[in-house]
Amino acid sequence: MFIREQQIPEELEWDQFDAVSVHALAVNNAGQPVGTARLLPDGHIGRMAVLKEWRGQGLGSALLTTLLRVLIKRRQFEAQLHAQTSAIPFYKKFGFQVVGKEFMEAGIPHVKMTLSIKQSTLII
Ligand SMILES: CC(C)(COP(=O)(O)OP(=O)(O)OC[C@H]1O[C@@H](n2cnc3c(N)ncnc32)[C@H](O)[C@@H]1OP(=O)(O)O)[C@@H](O)C(=O)NCCC(=O)NCCS
Repeated sequence: MFIREQQIPEELEWDQFDAVSVHALAVNNAGQPVGTARLLPDGHIGRMAVLKEWRGQGLGSALLTTLLRVLIKRRQFEAQLHAQTSAIPFYKKFGFQVVGKEFMEAGIPHVKMTLSIKQSTLII
């Protein structure tokens, strides 16, 4: 779903971390995927995407919150991700902060963002 939605070359998207990640999947009533995200063992969140027609309805927030809850259960309180610059405001709502300069990844401008969960008042 992420590959099709984001038009990322398939060979860049499947990697060795898929097998060890927690994957959050949002599905429609027919059981088809409409949103996805993954959490790596080290607290890195990635592959976050919601199909266009499903955006703005809280699915992205639900996916992110689910993964942050998994982190908290593991007693890991630091999350990080590479945000597409267009998605910075979305992650800022959860308390993520931009660290460092913009860089290119898969041909798309990104920034590193981090969240210290104990300091966030949004995730309870
Ligand atoms: C970023 C993305 C996952 C958000 O998913 P979503 O289901 O639309 O998010 P939500 O509906 O939970 O939005 C939560 C809030 O963030 C805001 N928001 C979401 N995406 C935003 C964006 N790109 N810019 C600004 N605000 C955004 C929403 O307006 C909403 O605000 P509100 O709480 O005031 O109503 C989705 O837009 C998407 O898939 N974008 C394309 C792929 C992408 O950028 N992925 C991120 C890769 S790092």
